Amino acid sequence: MALKLNPTIAQSPKLPAFALPPMASLRSPKFFMASTLRSGSNCSALIFVNEIKKSYPDTNEFVDREVDNIKKPFTPPREVHVQVTHSMPPQKIEIFKSLEDWADQNLLVHLKPVEKCWQPQDFLPEPSSDGFHEQVMELRERARELPDDYFVVLVGDMITEEALPTYQTMLNTLDGVRDETGASPTSWAIWTRAWTAEENRHGDLLNKYLYLSGRVDMRQIEKTIQYLIGSGMDPRTENNPYLGFIYTSFQERATFISHGNTARLAKEHGDLKLAQICGTIAADEKRHETAYTKIVEKLFEIDPDGTVLAFADMMRKKIAMPAHLMYDGRDDNLFDNFSAVAQRLGVYTAKDYADILEFLVGRWKVEKLSGLSGEGLKAQEYVCGLPPRIRRLEERAQGRVKQARSVPFSWVYDRQVSL
Ligand SMILES: [Fe+2]
Ligand SMILES: [Fe+2]
Repeated sequence: MALKLNPTIAQSPKLPAFALPPMASLRSPKFFMASTLRSGSNCSALIFVNEIKKSYPDTNEFVDREVDNIKKPFTPPREVHVQVTHSMPPQKIEIFKSLEDWADQNLLVHLKPVEKCWQPQDFLPEPSSDGFHEQVMELRERARELPDDYFVVLVGDMITEEALPTYQTMLNTLDGVRDETGASPTSWAIWTRAWTAEENRHGDLLNKYLYLSGRVDMRQIEKTIQYLIGSGMDPRTENNPYLGFIYTSFQERATFISHGNTARLAKEHGDLKLAQICGTIAADEKRHETAYTKIVEKLFEIDPDGTVLAFADMMRKKIAMPAHLMYDGRDDNLFDNFSAVAQRLGVYTAKDYADILEFLVGRWKVEKLSGLSGEGLKAQEYVCGLPPRIRRLEERAQGRVKQARSVPFSWVYDRQVSL
């Protein structure tokens, strides 16, 4: 799964508001980071730092930077909305227990054996080879042809992938399917761990490619990743696997679309190797989408009413994008700005949001559900009518006159990029 941006941020005058998660983000003054020094207080940490500086004068510059960090509060953005927990009635946990064998037969088949999986190294210069430097130079030659706005989107996608610990945590919040021990033998837990292991290659590959490209400010990017993982996310799935698997179905398709589009653009810019990298990641996302949508399809079969209500609930709340709390220490609107560039380049757009929803409605045959309760019928009507409503809003937003605007992105050394 993982990741992708919400193209529709209400604060942004350029984009329609329908996909805005009803929440705000604040930078909390509550959290303080004592950096890597495990002292009881900032004061004792500073005394400790002075001792280090005396003993190891060569490290002074680095230590000074760390001291700066100690003085400044660590202020991750935090979600400001009511956090609902455990909304699935406890008796429904039995549904997921009874689906253990089903998951073994139908879900785990979508994992690839490790020996048959691609690895990041298959697409990168071989460090042990004599031709390593030449291979790196070739990579950098090709990367020179790509514009800054493309790199902004690729970096945002990579950062989103790199916040993988958050997504594994999210899956392990779900009642009835969580990995209870960290090495649980249930099919659900096996899936979650192996899925995470597959996803882990995405961030690794993009990160190493971007490092070698020499086009981006790796330190700023690494800071953004640290902030993002520290911030976490609440996709409002309420420990409820119905909501959780609808969310992951949506997200896997969103990432499939996004990586597919960065592949297409790389090809248009003449970088076939990068196109292959992004296309290979997109293929993984597609396989994950197949798996997650299959779970929800099964839930529709067993409990159509509960599942259509969950689908409508998730769509009313809007699908919050996994990296929406991203921050680089400088730009308070980093996610909105990144989303605006992705929208402008056609990598992930408001139209994609509507298309994904329409795809899922069709995939799960929501229009054909029968025998629903009154509430279920209302939910069915709501989700089936939503894609055209979103499209109308989007067209109206597109029709408004847009002001040309550009902002500096720290990821590309504060160069200006059009939104
Ligand atoms: Fe994925
Ligand atoms: Fe991924």
